[in-house]
Amino acid sequence: MREHKSATEVNMRQLRIEKLSENNLRFTKEFDCGDCDLNEFLKEDAVPYQKGKIAVTYLCFYGEVLIGYYSLSNDAIEIKGKAKNIMEKLKKRQKTYPAIKIGRMAIDKNFSRAGIGTKIINVVFGTALIQSDSIGCRYICVDAYNKPEVIAFYENNNFKKIKSKIREEKTVLMYRDILERN
Ligand SMILES: CC(C)(COP(=O)(O)OP(=O)(O)OC[C@H]1O[C@@H](n2cnc3c(N)ncnc32)[C@H](O)[C@@H]1OP(=O)(O)O)[C@@H](O)C(=O)NCCC(=O)NCCS
Repeated sequence: MREHKSATEVNMRQLRIEKLSENNLRFTKEFDCGDCDLNEFLKEDAVPYQKGKIAVTYLCFYGEVLIGYYSLSNDAIEIKGKAKNIMEKLKKRQKTYPAIKIGRMAIDKNFSRAGIGTKIINVVFGTALIQSDSIGCRYICVDAYNKPEVIAFYENNNFKKIKSKIREEKTVLMYRDILERN
């Protein structure tokens, strides 16, 4: 049985991201983030989603151990409130704005709270910045689990909730503006 790793025990330089492929698929079998739906997505749905071009999944390795994954898709989000004036200078408003969506994201339960999720968000941020140079993409968004620790994780990573009244819902749409620096 693997033991839980703390932040000081994880050398971030040993993290490696690989796109899900036939070469690394075998590593997904043992993955356990503590959430059945997210485990199941990786083991059963990630390949058909990728083949169907619905979502591309990336695996995060620590040495030879799979310790996390995330999947990305294109999306469009409706921005409400003050932020919706982002096009004000052009005197144009759009109903929706282009985004990259983190469809799924999970860290192995033995590696949680060691900074790996934050590292992955930084990688996704870099991906969005590069992509936005060739295809319009202003936001990163996620349907975050409506749990205080998950919301706190995304808020710590500069995501905002799209609306404030979310008590009853299972997930909360959160977004981060890639032009807003910390
Ligand atoms: C949520 C998740 C992706 C965060 O990744 P992570 O690598 O653990 O997060 P980081 O170490 O980068 O950041 C930790 C911060 O997130 C929040 N957090 C994460 N897990 C937490 C927990 N179990 N309890 C309380 N806060 C938690 C805290 O703000 C924490 O900061 P702190 O340790 O200084 O208090 C990861 O814990 C996970 O996969 N959880 C299970 C699956 C899940 O809920 N996925 C999200 C679906 S939207």
